[in-house]
Amino acid sequence: MFDVGKIREEFPILGCKVYGRSLVYLDSGATAQKPLQVIETVDRFHRACNANIHRGVHFLSEEATEAFEAARTRIAAWIGAAEREEVVFTSGATASLNTVAYAWGDKFVGAGDNILVSEMEHHSNLVPWQLLAQRTGAEIRVLPFDDEGRLRSELLGELLDEHTRVVAVTQASNTLGTRPDLRPIIDAAHAVGAVVVVDGCQGAVHGGIDVRALDCDFYAFSGHKLYGPTGIGVLYGKRALLEAMPPFLGGGDMVDRVSFGHTTFAPVPLKFEAGTVNFVGAIGLGEAVKFMQRFDPAEIETHEMALLRRAEARLRQIDGLRIYGETPDKCPIVSFNVEGVHAYDMGMILDKLGIAVRTGQHCAEPVMTHFGTTGMCRASLAMYNTLAEVDALADGVVRAVKMLR
Ligand code: ALA
Repeated sequence: MFDVGKIREEFPILGCKVYGRSLVYLDSGATAQKPLQVIETVDRFHRACNANIHRGVHFLSEEATEAFEAARTRIAAWIGAAEREEVVFTSGATASLNTVAYAWGDKFVGAGDNILVSEMEHHSNLVPWQLLAQRTGAEIRVLPFDDEGRLRSELLGELLDEHTRVVAVTQASNTLGTRPDLRPIIDAAHAVGAVVVVDGCQGAVHGGIDVRALDCDFYAFSGHKLYGPTGIGVLYGKRALLEAMPPFLGGGDMVDRVSFGHTTFAPVPLKFEAGTVNFVGAIGLGEAVKFMQRFDPAEIETHEMALLRRAEARLRQIDGLRIYGETPDKCPIVSFNVEGVHAYDMGMILDKLGIAVRTGQHCAEPVMTHFGTTGMCRASLAMYNTLAEVDALADGVVRAVKMLR
């Protein structure tokens, strides 16, 4: 049975005091906290089996390589990849998306082509495509969302054509919480021969993913938003696409034969893992996935939805408060503003009450532009949050409004 009290005991940081008050951590969308299982694995690895992977015949190197590759196997199974080689370790989702934009994009996108990006992408799934467009002369097109935060998929017919090479879309918006229905988007993109790049930064942690069932071509996520370490992430790509791509970064471990005249490359996924990859992070991420696998995803979802509904219900009672993103099946993210109160001031007062929320543009400035605002407060909830914490947020907002108005 899902027991949030027991889960919280596994996250040491949740017992912290800030300004003498119990921490209420509602910024998991920016980075999630880490369970002991991950912290101890990373610690144990550094103490007892640290050695570079794929490079030594000695005991520790063999052990490290085995643990690293086991993490790849676990993660591949967890995301539903057909083959473990379709999982590339990167430094995070941003690196994953840039790898696709540079390695796949520079080869397969040219002048006269277009790239469709949703209006709700955070900068990691927008700027790499803009840079690609600048390098190649391709056009950026935007799939808009409506004021509820629903992606306007009915416009796909107008926006896609035979020159569309890429459709970049999020699994869950980091600001609006929207979980777009990806099925029609992927089907429509494939019908015109475009590849679909799904940003799973917020989606992987809220409901997981089955990349094969979804039939997306690339999928990117970061470890640190999934209860795992920072500086590690995954790029999933269908094998045929990864094989067709040239390497992105050059260096050790991604090569087959090297001479001054000619260099050949290692097979996927190593072709994309130049240098010493963050193997400890990868092992920690494998452990984070193991942690998640201990729970029934439906129970996590039920708990997180109860938190979200309570947060929305309490916040809506506050005079002048607007919630951005009102799709019924959104993930547990609540962005809001209160009339006459600057988001930054709200965040500062909540902080003094021990409540951590994110304020500002959330690395998604086009979403701010859509709503004509320069910033929002965002509470992003996780499996370890409680209804009492959500109530503390609502009480804190009421208090802040009284002080600031
Ligand atoms: N993209 C991260 C967020 O949503 C940092 O906060």
